[in-house]
Amino acid sequence: MSSPTIYDVAAEARVSASTVSHVLNSTRKVSEETRALVEAAVHKLSYRQNNAARILRDGRTKLLGLILPDVSNSFFSDIAHRIELLAYDRGMRVVTCNSDYDHQREASYIDDLIQRRVDGIMIAPVISNVVLDALLKSTGIPAVLLDRVSSADTLPSVAIDNGAASILAADHLYGLGHRKVGCITSHPGLAESTDRRTQGFLDRLSRLGHPVADTAIAYSDFRLWGGLEAASRLLDQRSDLTALFCANDMMAVGAIRAATAAGRRVPSDLSVMGFDDSREAQIAQPPLTTIAQPLDLLAETAMRLLRDPTDSTVRLGVQLVVRGSTARPTHETSERIVQLQPRRAPATLLRRVLLAGAGIEGEAYARALWERRNITVVGVYDPEQDRAETVARRVEARACSRMEATLALDDVDGLVVTGASPACLSLIEEAARRGVHILCDTLRLPNGLLDQAMPLCESAGVVLQAGLAGRTDLDTERLASAVRKGEVGRVVAVQVIDQGPWPALDEPEPVPCVLLQPALIDDMDLIRFVLGEDPDDVVAFEGPKSPAEGTIKIGGASVTMRFPSMAIGSIAMARSALLEPEHRVSVLGSHGSATVAWSPGSRAKLIREDGSRAFGSAISRHCTKASRQVAAFIAAVSGQDRVASGHELRATRRIADAAALSAKTGQVVSIKHCREPGGDLSNPIRLSRSG
Ligand code: RIB
Repeated sequence: MSSPTIYDVAAEARVSASTVSHVLNSTRKVSEETRALVEAAVHKLSYRQNNAARILRDGRTKLLGLILPDVSNSFFSDIAHRIELLAYDRGMRVVTCNSDYDHQREASYIDDLIQRRVDGIMIAPVISNVVLDALLKSTGIPAVLLDRVSSADTLPSVAIDNGAASILAADHLYGLGHRKVGCITSHPGLAESTDRRTQGFLDRLSRLGHPVADTAIAYSDFRLWGGLEAASRLLDQRSDLTALFCANDMMAVGAIRAATAAGRRVPSDLSVMGFDDSREAQIAQPPLTTIAQPLDLLAETAMRLLRDPTDSTVRLGVQLVVRGSTARPTHETSERIVQLQPRRAPATLLRRVLLAGAGIEGEAYARALWERRNITVVGVYDPEQDRAETVARRVEARACSRMEATLALDDVDGLVVTGASPACLSLIEEAARRGVHILCDTLRLPNGLLDQAMPLCESAGVVLQAGLAGRTDLDTERLASAVRKGEVGRVVAVQVIDQGPWPALDEPEPVPCVLLQPALIDDMDLIRFVLGEDPDDVVAFEGPKSPAEGTIKIGGASVTMRFPSMAIGSIAMARSALLEPEHRVSVLGSHGSATVAWSPGSRAKLIREDGSRAFGSAISRHCTKASRQVAAFIAAVSGQDRVASGHELRATRRIADAAALSAKTGQVVSIKHCREPGGDLSNPIRLSRSG
């Protein structure tokens, strides 16, 4: 009996042959009912699709060749997984090959895939790209290089900017106070991109005045045991090292094991940092501080380049992810580090809290804390005693004097600061000295106090969380995730509209410049959070301000930022009591856009004596933010990932300071050099001619 054909299946399922083809090749969406009919007919007739006929007919195998150097490294196996999902949705099947960093194997796989006439090849190559070009160009098969790319590439390629990424790592360890740092990396020449990663790290520390000696560098194979052996050797010969940077997470996990075997506790005796943010980084003990590569976006972009190679060289941003494997050095005091041993070990459960600040935000936080059954607000402090008493009464707490607040710190696990008065802010240092975790929601925290508080908190091992609204906003998180997954393609612009009345803040004095207003700092952080990178250049203008007391308070500003990925971030802010509140962020990309708009929630309409109307700030918005910030604070105290750390606020403040300087001088202000080799970390702003 002859084999059933596609027409037999069509007749059995009572559909057309083309519908059968669409179902079997996922080349068009069909209803579940039709799919079930076709699949039942295929099963009943034992039909086998004849690929040879299809290939002869349309010359396409629908096969995608993927060649990776080490599928035992979860970085690559996760990339393979993402690419397989994307290919399947496009009706293609993936043939994954593991070159094992071997040139001969890789060349033979390339040859095999050409012989099988695959429709495309993606490769993270170990052979030189010149040879690869020659091999692939002659076949006319579309090819994309991913992850391991060189400056000599002529094929379309997508990777991160390794040099810039490794500077983030160097700055993190340097900023913690490490001056004797080791490096575990791959053997030179294994890949130009990872060589750049290593060299970028070494150059940065050299420019910061603390070069890594040759005796502090060990070479390995990017694998777990290789990292363990390299770290063992290194720690034997250089027991004075206080930190290790490993060029990928697999080696970093091995290094943590080696440190433990050598009796070195991580991070208190030795900080260990990785690169990739692989699944191993997240479950390591302690969880690994690392540089996160955007795997989803890497896979999405590689698929896009296969179809549309016009945008041929794509370099993606990365993110520093601070976890528990790095901390300040304990037995080495650098010029900026204040040695601090808290009077007691910081809590890992938030149960008793002191609240400093009883204005509109303080009231929202009091409510958010009080709603948590297992949290007690022990006391409420505010320079204005009657405000403290009003809020304290609502949460069955006691209103504290300044002295009572200090004493209360010995009886709490956490301090929540919403007031910007010196009295409130001074509690931060006292809390850090007592091992009390801190949530600081006033973005008017002076830079100097923030610079002093961060090392104190890190050396004491307490959480310092900044109240950056976007980082605990579910909608913003979804937006940032969509961008990282490449759902809008390559980002062209991120635009924020922020208008309405001045927020009813409880700050005692207005800041000198509208560009330093908390709402604008939140908007700046929102853009850098969504993009996952920091801007190179900033230009800003300040609009009109209230002419005099008694009139309707107005204010306005425009900020534009240019990012390494060339994306443009912009903020248009306008304040007036009679403006209908509107706050939204739009991401505009090569393949679409996404917008999040926050409704002002329930607004109190105020009718003033003179008949003027105004929209009161939305207490509901403060409460929503406070509730989310408290949830993130509880998670951070329990050792989960920290959102909105002091570092994030400091980086955003750098942008705000640059914007204020630009508005004052009318020039473009560059803060790129903070990441470039030689950047002066102490003075993060430099004027450049407006281009
Ligand atoms: O090839 C090893 C490393 O290079 C991976 O861990 C990843 O960092 C890639 O860039």
